[in-house]
Amino acid sequence: MTATDTGIARHAVRVRALSEGGGEGAGSGRLAHWAGESNRTAAVNVRLDAFHCTLAKVRAVTPLQREMLAGRAAVAADDQFARWIMHFANNRARHEATEVSVDWDSPAALPEGVRNAITHSFQRFELGEGGDGEHLLRKAARCSPAQQEALRLLVVEEQQHSELFARGLQHLGASTLPGHWSDRVFTRLRRILGLRTELALFLAAEAVAMPYFVVLSRSGPDDVIRAVGTRIALDEEHHLAFQIDQLRLGFAATPPAGRALVFAVWWCVAVGAGTVLAIDHRAALRACGLAPRSYWGSALRSFRRAAAAALG
Ligand SMILES: [Fe+2]
Ligand SMILES: [Fe+2]
Repeated sequence: MTATDTGIARHAVRVRALSEGGGEGAGSGRLAHWAGESNRTAAVNVRLDAFHCTLAKVRAVTPLQREMLAGRAAVAADDQFARWIMHFANNRARHEATEVSVDWDSPAALPEGVRNAITHSFQRFELGEGGDGEHLLRKAARCSPAQQEALRLLVVEEQQHSELFARGLQHLGASTLPGHWSDRVFTRLRRILGLRTELALFLAAEAVAMPYFVVLSRSGPDDVIRAVGTRIALDEEHHLAFQIDQLRLGFAATPPAGRALVFAVWWCVAVGAGTVLAIDHRAALRACGLAPRSYWGSALRSFRRAAAAALG
């Protein structure tokens, strides 16, 4: 077992402890469960399901009752986002603990093909993770202060990911890219979407990227590359859980037929995103010992689990 594997195992224990203690959103427990970790989130999920059933009945009650239920829902959501704010705040210490053990200035002694493959991949991700989140936060202007703050902290972590990829590029002796047409198209698309749709798009993109980040953390070609993968994979696991928590609230009142339609459209987006990543990052995947076709299957399974959790 490498030092990175040991680090992941230690973090998994901490994540499980947080989930069991209710220290984070319900979605994080489900993700821990997908990773094969035991947890006690079933009771939390039952409570959440009951809460969603209550929301589904809202149309059948009087205006006064509806107002009371909406108030309870807002309190429950705020409580959930307050826990996420705490998670993001505590995550800074975890970041420092991971990063302090990495010799960022060590030279990358890698074969030319491997260096080029990881460089190409990191340059794409450095751009993709580097948005300022201005439009996302503007769309969230009508959300509660707790949700807005949680979203702001999420954006900060995404910007840190961009910096981590830039650090990885520096280690590889490569520079960042000034821009790329695919990133510009993705950014324009996000700007015309509503908040819930943009979060759904994020969930698809991050769920399909997760298997890549995990293989990077476990089988990246050197310590620095593995450290970048580890930092990002651990954060993204929580980002998925955070987005699932928000989307569960967003889709709470959507009837089953509507959810089926959402899933069908969402699935097409995920297949597209997974295929683009498998093709564009195929050399990096192979450098980490993962065949692009195997990655593709893992990516779609990852998305299916995330979408199922979000659509409840
Ligand atoms: Fe990220
Ligand atoms: Fe993320």
